[in-house]
Amino acid sequence: MPNPSGTLNERVDCLLREAFLSCGLPVEGARAVRATRPELGDMQCNGAMALGKSLRRNPRDLAAAVAAKLQESAAFDSVEVAGVGFINLRLSAALLADYARYQLDSERVGIERVATQVVMLDFGGPNVAKPLHVGHLRSLVIGESVRRILACQGHRTISDVHLGDWGLQMGMLIAEIRRLFPALPCFGASPSLDQAALPFDMQDLQQLYPRAAAACQADPERMNEAREATAQLQGGHPGYTMLWQAIRTISIDAQKRDFDALDVHFDLLLGESDVQSLIPGMVADLRERGIAVESEGALVIDVAEAGDASPLPPLILAKSDGAALYSTTDLATIVARAREPSLAKIVYVVDQRQALHFEQVFRAARRAGFVGNIELIHAGFGTVNGPDGKPYKTRQGGVAQLSDLLNAAIDKARERLAAIRAGTKTDAAEIDAGTGPETLATDADLDKLARQVGIGAVKFADLSSFRTLGYMFNPDRMVSFEGRTGPYVQYACVRIQSILTRARDQGISIGTMLPEHAAERALLLECARFPEVVKSAAANLAPNELTDYVFGLAQAFSRFYSECPVLAADTAALQGSRLAMSTLCLRVLAQGLYLLGISVPDRM
Ligand code: ARG
Repeated sequence: MPNPSGTLNERVDCLLREAFLSCGLPVEGARAVRATRPELGDMQCNGAMALGKSLRRNPRDLAAAVAAKLQESAAFDSVEVAGVGFINLRLSAALLADYARYQLDSERVGIERVATQVVMLDFGGPNVAKPLHVGHLRSLVIGESVRRILACQGHRTISDVHLGDWGLQMGMLIAEIRRLFPALPCFGASPSLDQAALPFDMQDLQQLYPRAAAACQADPERMNEAREATAQLQGGHPGYTMLWQAIRTISIDAQKRDFDALDVHFDLLLGESDVQSLIPGMVADLRERGIAVESEGALVIDVAEAGDASPLPPLILAKSDGAALYSTTDLATIVARAREPSLAKIVYVVDQRQALHFEQVFRAARRAGFVGNIELIHAGFGTVNGPDGKPYKTRQGGVAQLSDLLNAAIDKARERLAAIRAGTKTDAAEIDAGTGPETLATDADLDKLARQVGIGAVKFADLSSFRTLGYMFNPDRMVSFEGRTGPYVQYACVRIQSILTRARDQGISIGTMLPEHAAERALLLECARFPEVVKSAAANLAPNELTDYVFGLAQAFSRFYSECPVLAADTAALQGSRLAMSTLCLRVLAQGLYLLGISVPDRM
């Protein structure tokens, strides 16, 4: 057998290289890809065509020579030349079983640690005193999945939430609170503040902020007040600073609960405020070096480049009133982050509509020499849309809050699960096929389960298409047990778990895998693709490649299970073989779901 580690594809490539070499051919084209027509083989090599061109030889002859060599290997059942010089490869049962065994014995079913870069991830980005909204949901869901995918490849990831805790919104809130509670001791001559005795909580803040913002929009005087409060806060006003700290604490506590509920992990809970002290020095330095220049009363950095289709507007570093801006803060954050030893990349998982902002900030950072070799990447995402195809709004027309969305999905999940338990739901034909009562949830865990299924469904739907595309938020569809959904894949896991439990009860244990049946072969081939899919998802920062994959694998299992009985197989050897295949499939599915941030329920 070929080399003992590597992906299945790499093992086959290795054999192809040997064959090319022994035919005296260069190895560039010695690569196998998934077969485009599975009825002709499991994999194919298309290398002979390019080679034929460059060597001015008939590609079919080249393919035939390579195929003759490959036929000697025990790794292939058949090697056939087709068309103008395709080599179709049918893998032997021995090779398939050998690789499947390797996956089963490996801690993470064959995922290899291929890289060890330090990667900073900027996602979440909630704003203090404002509830998380639908845009933050996407950032959290995509960011967390990207974090898990990069970490499993061996990268050291550092996730930072980058709180919006500075700027005008804070001034608006402070001014509003001063109007409502003028007697608060933080507004007194010798300011103080007792966090435990505050007259407002997170819920109040969430109402206060939109009210304050609306008042400022409507009334220039209120806006002035807010601006003044902002300037005073940023100037270090002791009472305002206390109040700001208190608001920040309340807000972060509430957001941490949201992160926990979503199973999202942050290494750092830093915010815009944490880099404000760097700004004056940074601005002075940029001015001195002539990178920042005065233009129409503002201080700007020119970021236009020769190849631009239309000239990029300059980054505004400071307006005439000197107040810090979103861009200035992001630039200073890069200065702070670049101090992290051996940092290779910063990945920003932020709304695609901020693409121009990031392009300006990245160019300015490079021009200023802040980043050296650190790669700056904006992994943008599209909007979550309502049924009208426009950005999702609440029924009242406001911005949908995170909790509205999650609750809609959780309620739907509870309804579906309850219906299945009551036997009134035939929505999923799968539900009855091959499952015993042990897969059903009891009353006690129905609530927990509804959360697990509802949130899993939202995440799966969110990660189903490439991140830059928008998607439609439709709880009814995303919580379905049929089709390309989270619950479908979760349910496949529950079914396999139930088979494993029954096998244990009947004293059946895992045996040598003997892939003979087409559905068995297809299942193992699909399991074998997992490490490659993870690698590609990491390279493209594209969790959607994994949602596609786990859905396909769940389908492959479904076919396998309907054609190849496990517990009722004819012989003990076959029982043991199929049990091993089912176990491998479950582990791959669970690992795939984990990388998407989705948990596997015990029962459904
Ligand atoms: N707080 C911002 C928002 O709500 C997102 C922050 C994204 N990260 C960054 N470094 N700018 O739109």
